[in-house]
Order: sequence, then structure tokens, then C-alpha cells
Amino acid sequence: MTKDEVAAQKCPVPGGRPPFDPISLLHLAYRPLRVCSLDAPRTRPKWRPPNCIGGSVTSPYDHLPVLADEVVGAFPFTKESLVVDGTLGLGGHSERLLQAYPQMRIWGLEWDVKALEMARERLKRFGERFEGIEASYADLPSMLSQRGRGTIDGLLLDLGLSSMQLADSDRGFSFLRPGPLDMRMSRSLTTTAWQILAGSSESELASLFRKYGEEPQARRIAQGLKESLHRKTLTNDAWQVAETIRRTVASPMHRIDPATRCFQALRIVVNQELSNLDKILESMKTLVDQGGRVAVISFHSLEDRRVKTVFHQAAKGCICPPRIPQCVCGQAPWGKLINRKVIVACEAEIQKNPRARSAKLRILERL
Ligand SMILES: C[S@@+](CC[C@H](N)C(=O)[O-])C[C@H]1O[C@@H](n2cnc3c(N)ncnc32)[C@H](O)[C@@H]1O
Repeated sequence: MTKDEVAAQKCPVPGGRPPFDPISLLHLAYRPLRVCSLDAPRTRPKWRPPNCIGGSVTSPYDHLPVLADEVVGAFPFTKESLVVDGTLGLGGHSERLLQAYPQMRIWGLEWDVKALEMARERLKRFGERFEGIEASYADLPSMLSQRGRGTIDGLLLDLGLSSMQLADSDRGFSFLRPGPLDMRMSRSLTTTAWQILAGSSESELASLFRKYGEEPQARRIAQGLKESLHRKTLTNDAWQVAETIRRTVASPMHRIDPATRCFQALRIVVNQELSNLDKILESMKTLVDQGGRVAVISFHSLEDRRVKTVFHQAAKGCICPPRIPQCVCGQAPWGKLINRKVIVACEAEIQKNPRARSAKLRILERL
């Protein structure tokens, strides 16, 4: 059996060979090869400096929703329901849900006005079943009470960036493109990544790269960046910042672009991504109705660890330390894990959509 046949048997994704997508190819160049099939060779390509910094979005809705079938399966509601898509993006997941469940209404929250406008346009055919709202999912509790709504039936979070944001060189999210190092997802945010870079001391920068990027060479990178800033050889440009990092730590052993983790760290800080996630995870117990579901797709361990901890605590109830022989907290479980093991994309989906490679989906049902 060929590798393709094995992949198709494990996870049949319609559509056959993926269309040519230059952005996906660029990102593939920086990722270790994940091979599901036992027949296939287990090789890991080394990191190579890019020889191309181009790439363009071929359609306005180029962002393929990851784990879309699994997300549809996460909300099996046959009655009238209200689901909040907390990270609407270009509306790919919302579209699939609205198509699958005619009784479902969706409120889509999005921080990025450009994405929001595009999602509204895409989903206008669903009429009153869909509403796009400019808001952060972290503010969901106050948004619901403003609308006189106590609880919801479902909450979906697909964390991180859309392909459109990554491809837009004016946004500064990509280490593969020149353009201002901005990284703000919302116009309500005031501090750019460049301001953080330029305004932090070397040790502050190192601790930021370590804490939010889990970058082992954080100190060296921070030193390299600060020296370049001092010598005035570094300006507000994402490509230049990435090149400085590459020059500081590049080694043939790197399997990913050496700038990956620092860019992740800056983006997390600019958009307060982890504190937003903590806020919503804390409030979901009161937000989601009995029998309702929460599904979260995360893309790195800092996010997934948080989701896993909160979901497992909800399913366990008791929060007593393990050394105490008998429960004294008296807390009962308030959630049920729908998937004991985290759901990841199969090889066929990854081939079609490389962004799915690091996606992890967890689903919790409210008891
Ligand atoms: C991975 S994309 C979502 C893609 C979407 N599921 C789709 O199928 O098109 C993540 C989106 O979440 C948005 N976002 C990130 N943090 C947010 C927040 N705190 N509140 C609302 N939207 C946020 C980003 O602007 C981005 O458009």
C-alpha cells in the first residue's frame, strides 16, 4: 500500500491533492516532517535559510479552518442553540457549523476589523442566524450580560493567527516578510511589538523570550538584538529583526527558523494572549449551559497546557493536593472530557493545510 493510500484510509479528506499554496510551502520549509504512516521514511529536514520571502494569499478566504470536521462533531446540537465563535477569523468554522446545524445561531467575536468584515460578508447568507461582533472573547461575560443573555450552549476558540494576518506584511506577524513589526490584532491595543523590543532592557527581553517563547537561547538573542539597536543597524522591520536573530543563533541543527519562538513571544505579549485565555477558561463554568460544550484549538504548549489543566480539573472536581488522603475541598466535577486524548490532525489534513500540524483540539461538556 502506498503512503497516500494509508493516509486516505486513516482519514479521508476530500479534494485529493492540495492546490498550490506558496505560503503553506514557505511554512513547510520550517517545520519538522511529521509522518503518520509506518511505511513512510522518518526523516527530519534541517533548517535552511529562506531563499524566498514572497508569498501571497490567493483568495480572500484562503485560511482553511483546521480540524473542521472534528469541530462540527464537537457541537452535536439538534435543538435550537446559541454558540459563540470566540475567534471568528474569516468565519471558516462558523460557516461549517451553520451549514451542519440548521437550528444553530452563532455570535462570532473577532478583534481584527478586517477579518470581521470579511467573515460578515462570507456569512451574510445565513441571515439572522449569524452575527459578527467586534470584541475580545475575554470580554464575553460582560458582552453577554449587556445583551441580557445568561448562558450559551457552546463556545469555540481557535487560538492564534489566521493565514491572512500572517500574510499581511503591514502587520509584522511573519518573520518571512519585511514590514513594520506591529503584531497588534486589534485596533484597541496600543503597544506594538517594536515598542516592546526597543523599550525593554536586555534582561527583560530575555525573560520575555524565555517565558513566552520557551526559547533556550533567549539571553544571546536579547543581547544580539540590543547590540544591533545600539549600533543603529536595526530598524522597525520584521525581516531585519528575524535576520538579526538568525545571525545571532543560526546553526545547521535548527529544524525551525531561529526567529520562530521570539516572534511567538512578542505576539503573545502584544495581544495579551495568555491572560485572555486564562480569563475565558476561568469564566466558562458560569457561561456555558448544562449539556453545552467548549472546544478549544491551541497551537503551542503554553496554550494547550492551560486548556488541559482547566479541563481536567473540571472533570475531576476535587482540587485538594494529592498528598491529602481524603477530599476536604468538597468540589464536585462540573465538566466531562469528550476526548480523553487530545485530538490532532491526520496526515492527509496536514498535507492540505500545514497550519494543522501543531493544532490540538480539546472538548469539554458542561455537566
Ligand atoms: C486562527 S484564527 C481563527 C480562524 C477561524 N476559526 C476560521 O475558520 O476562519 C484566530 C482569530 O482569532 C482572532 N483573535 C485572537 N485573539 C482574539 C481575542 N482575544 N478576541 C477575539 N478574536 C481574537 C484573531 O484576530 C484571528 O483572526
